[in-house]
Amino acid sequence: MPSDSKPNDRKTGSMIAIEIAGYGGPEVLKPVRRSVPQPGPGEVLIEVTAAGVNRPDVLQRQGGYKPPPGASDIPGLEVAGRIAGLGEGVSGWRMGDPVTALVAGGGYAEFCTAPVPQCLPVPKGMDAVKAAALPETFFTVWTNVFDRGRLKSGESFLVHGGSSGIGTTAIQLAHAFGARVFTTAGSPEKCAACVKLGAERAIDHRREDFVAVIEAATGGKGVDVILDMVGGSYINRNLKILAVEGRLVHIAFLEGAKAEIDLGQLMMRRQTITGSTLRPRSVAEKGAIAQSLREKVWPLLESGRVAPVMYKTFPLAEAAEAHRLMESSSHIGKIVLTTARA
Ligand SMILES: NC(=O)c1ccc[n+]([C@@H]2O[C@H](COP(=O)([O-])OP(=O)(O)OC[C@H]3O[C@@H](n4cnc5c(N)ncnc54)[C@H](OP(=O)(O)O)[C@@H]3O)[C@@H](O)[C@H]2O)c1
Repeated sequence: MPSDSKPNDRKTGSMIAIEIAGYGGPEVLKPVRRSVPQPGPGEVLIEVTAAGVNRPDVLQRQGGYKPPPGASDIPGLEVAGRIAGLGEGVSGWRMGDPVTALVAGGGYAEFCTAPVPQCLPVPKGMDAVKAAALPETFFTVWTNVFDRGRLKSGESFLVHGGSSGIGTTAIQLAHAFGARVFTTAGSPEKCAACVKLGAERAIDHRREDFVAVIEAATGGKGVDVILDMVGGSYINRNLKILAVEGRLVHIAFLEGAKAEIDLGQLMMRRQTITGSTLRPRSVAEKGAIAQSLREKVWPLLESGRVAPVMYKTFPLAEAAEAHRLMESSSHIGKIVLTTARA
């Protein structure tokens, strides 16, 4: 904690935030005192109860994922809490309303601003700590699996990294929307958790060959949509088990960004390779994703059919510990930071 640490105080305009004090290991994440940000036109100020931790935050800390122009240098892509200020022209939100928001930075703090289109109400019956675990993975999965990947009921779906924040969300949503779900994960315990979430088969990638398992399970047809965060050697293996008219969607390349592919095979099977990053997209585009989530996914969260998989919470000041855990890859689901409000 900073030496002058005291509870957040909007009157003095200061708050505790986590700063990246030079790129490096988790130890560069330092609690500091910063000014409370002011909401601009069309923005709200959120008094943060909890902030989700995501793998892109680790990349940012290491210097590999710079915030887009105009975004806060404080890490953190998702928060939940209560509305504590309204910028010019804001309607539809009142002071004190429970809110969860996707942000382009600034989440690891006691206060954070967010553009209104990126805000969603905390689902009924859910607390703010769980709600903070929603935006980054639900926006990412929706736009990549359902918009870009066009996954439909009755189709088959494979998500790599099934036990990750992204994976646990993708399994549940694909299952809830009627797809046949396959996944890969790195241990028997992770695989068991993925099956509980709705995967028909979870493949332990340290012990099994996912290509052989998918070929056998689909009678050689392959799957209709793949969500991949590994890249590298997975690209050709993915294309081998992508069905005719199948869609391969990339959201990261943990193993490498480059590979040689056989265009002949791609053309014969009329396959599509696509991908996207969420953070640099416009407020309007993120707002459109938020609208779809509110319409199609919020009812599933409110009925309890779909829920964020919570692994561990840490006090905000222990953000470095939270990053150590994420880098160990031993977690299943989401890691969340909490403020004194929680
Ligand atoms: N494009 C976008 O808009 C966007 C948005 C959000 C997140 N992402 C990306 O999505 C990925 C997941 O994010 P997250 O926050 O959910 O992270 P996370 O919970 O830390 O999950 C990362 C997962 O990747 C698996 N993994 C790591 N290295 C691997 C490798 N070499 N081969 C196979 N699996 C590996 C790990 O599980 P195992 O034990 O199974 O290996 C772990 O479950 C990250 O790469 C992140 O950068 C992209």
